[in-house]
Amino acid sequence: MSHVLVTGASGFIGSALVAALAARGDRVTGIDVAVGPGLAALAQRHAGVAAHVCEITEWASLAEIVRRDPPDAVLHCAAVVGVPASVLAPHRTFDVNLGGSLTLFEVARLFGVRRIVHMSSEETYGDFQADRIDESHPQNPVMAYGISKLAVEHLGRTFGTLYGLEVINLRTCWVYGPGLPRPRVPKTFVDAAVEGRAFHLPWGASMAVDHTYIDDVVAGVLGALDHPSHPFDAYNLGSGQAATLAEIVAIVRDLVPGADISVGEGAFEHSLPGASVPASRKGALIVDRARKVFGYTPRFDIRDGLRAYIEATRAGR
Ligand SMILES: NC(=O)c1ccc[n+]([C@@H]2O[C@H](COP(=O)([O-])OP(=O)(O)OC[C@H]3O[C@@H](n4cnc5c(N)ncnc54)[C@H](O)[C@@H]3O)[C@@H](O)[C@H]2O)c1
Repeated sequence: MSHVLVTGASGFIGSALVAALAARGDRVTGIDVAVGPGLAALAQRHAGVAAHVCEITEWASLAEIVRRDPPDAVLHCAAVVGVPASVLAPHRTFDVNLGGSLTLFEVARLFGVRRIVHMSSEETYGDFQADRIDESHPQNPVMAYGISKLAVEHLGRTFGTLYGLEVINLRTCWVYGPGLPRPRVPKTFVDAAVEGRAFHLPWGASMAVDHTYIDDVVAGVLGALDHPSHPFDAYNLGSGQAATLAEIVAIVRDLVPGADISVGEGAFEHSLPGASVPASRKGALIVDRARKVFGYTPRFDIRDGLRAYIEATRAGR
């Protein structure tokens, strides 16, 4: 049994990780700017789960939590997440993603934490130059979100060189499943289909993105956390496939007969209040490195993942 600190523990991926760690008997300290209902319920259900309100950019608050009960490792999920959020709040994106990571790395090295697994992003690659890419693809992010995540990757390397802190970066793509908090595909399609509402996305039919089901991401993160010795500090963590939005709409329609959902032609754009931002070119993440090093094997192709997501949405999860 080990003790793991999860930052962003009230969030989509963070709370799923807390649940998985608690289920296998690890002790967990979950921190977030607010203790959400999911995290609170986990802390109530499992004696080994503690939940604390903590602003990750605030040194004193974070240092006190870690000093009192130093973890063996950290799963670092706290962030301003996604291109739209980062366009709306670029300063906050750098304060939290880069400044918060810096505070975390400093606290970790001062209190003897050896390993941090950082949730990085495919946005660090910028426009994909091929339909499928591995970790050697150039990293030329174009939005504040991806730039902040790439900066964290570099900062982690600096802490490795200077202090021996091991920071492992997992580059995930568009994660989906029960609890996805953002009004993003495929949630928008699935929610409308299950609720019997019409939903038409005006653009993006040919946009191909690696959509990764939450259970596969959780398995991959735990695989990286547990692996005794990492020969690399960055891994793609995707499904290895990239469905187009037109294919996703067709699968949801097939799984929910009568679903009144559709997607229009043209390039995908991120919707913002009163505006939209063109998306980078995407594709599939090649996951051979994670497979070879720590046995990562995604189990959900897009159809299986959407089926599981629709079932969970119908069940109100
Ligand atoms: N969901 C995806 O598709 C995806 C894809 C690639 C990478 N990621 C990365 O995975 C991680 C988790 O993403 P998610 O989808 O669970 O997002 P999320 O928004 O659900 O969770 C992020 C959590 O961080 C918390 N947080 C934000 N600012 C904070 C601060 N200053 N101090 C403490 N906590 C703070 C939020 O309250 C939230 O609970 C993020 O680092 C994100 O960049 C997610």
